[in-house]
Amino acid sequence: MSAQLEKDLPWESSMLGILYKQLFVPQKPQTKGISLSGQTAVVTGSNGGLGLEASRQLLQLGLSRLIMAVRSQASGDEAAEVLRNKFPHADIQVWLLDMADYHSIHAFTKRYQGLGRVDYTILNAAVQSSNFEHHERTGHELVFQVNYVSTVLLCMLLAPILKDMKHTGATVKPPVLSIVGSDTMYLSKFSPAGPVFPRMDNPGSYERMTQYMDSKLLLMIFINRLAQQIGPDDVIINVCNPGMVAGTGLGRNGSQNPGFVEKYLLPLFVKTLGRSVQSGASVYIHALLDEGKKGHGSFISDWDIKPYPRLLYVNEGQEFSERLWQETMEELRPALGEVIGLYS
Ligand SMILES: NC(=O)c1ccc[n+]([C@@H]2O[C@H](COP(=O)([O-])OP(=O)(O)OC[C@H]3O[C@@H](n4cnc5c(N)ncnc54)[C@H](OP(=O)(O)O)[C@@H]3O)[C@@H](O)[C@H]2O)c1
Repeated sequence: MSAQLEKDLPWESSMLGILYKQLFVPQKPQTKGISLSGQTAVVTGSNGGLGLEASRQLLQLGLSRLIMAVRSQASGDEAAEVLRNKFPHADIQVWLLDMADYHSIHAFTKRYQGLGRVDYTILNAAVQSSNFEHHERTGHELVFQVNYVSTVLLCMLLAPILKDMKHTGATVKPPVLSIVGSDTMYLSKFSPAGPVFPRMDNPGSYERMTQYMDSKLLLMIFINRLAQQIGPDDVIINVCNPGMVAGTGLGRNGSQNPGFVEKYLLPLFVKTLGRSVQSGASVYIHALLDEGKKGHGSFISDWDIKPYPRLLYVNEGQEFSERLWQETMEELRPALGEVIGLYS
């Protein structure tokens, strides 16, 4: 853990720092001369928003095969058609993946294994919602389920598959698995005391942004811990953040009777200060192509490696990380099956 990054934390994680970066940090130009010819990428939630734009940018760099993992065949087909028209030489496939359904995650994982080679994987699918909803089978709150529980499950299922894939040909680099987080995690006030799951599933304390920020904080902490178990020579794992982006679908799932703030103020805030979708998605491409092994286990934002959330720098946070790991492994034991033996 870099001492300099820790020093940067107070500024990087402050509201002022976040807004400053939104407005004044210029997009880093893409490294010149990169060709992704012969390579494969998989992007979840790629029927719209940042996932679709990241897919487009990868194809623009000459990617040969793209798997668009989506939960609706129709909207996936529609998005794929647009890309196929622009990039007729690429093999663009639409695969079904519902992050709220473990059967779907398992079926997807099996298909993924059959790809033989995957150079880049972006776990981008996530939700925000003003309405508390329990998952009908797992009983977990739905935002927590999709953004954290299912995302770390998929990540743990895919990492060993990637490790075992023997890439040949042009690329000798390890495959990259990038999980989309958010710098709103810095604003999370989630207490490290006590078990995590009951608190995240509690309708009494549910609030849209709090749940979203907390889910992304937990994601960063878990992925950091996971990355300690997987060598960057086998798979590079990182968490990337597009920053606040205007014009995506994330603002959906509002309240039935939204107040002034939700109806007018928040959308105006995002519209005024948000980056373009192109700019936000370019952070994903940076996390895949530019940071390499030094970005393993790290948080990549504003086209650079950024500090972890405060909890990871203090003793109670380290203990919390361990408890979160144990609690999550216990929860996911049945869904992980034999794969659980690969993790300790
Ligand atoms: N926009 C921002 O300001 C911002 C800032 C920081 C981080 N992020 C992160 O960036 C990522 C992309 O967000 P976005 O802004 O592009 O929002 P978006 O347009 O709503 O995209 C989210 C994607 O996730 C998919 N998804 C949601 N639930 C799913 C499920 N159960 N199974 C499979 N796919 C599911 C959505 O599919 P459907 O279309 O079928 O719903 C959609 O394709 C998210 O991880 C988000 O947290 C966004």
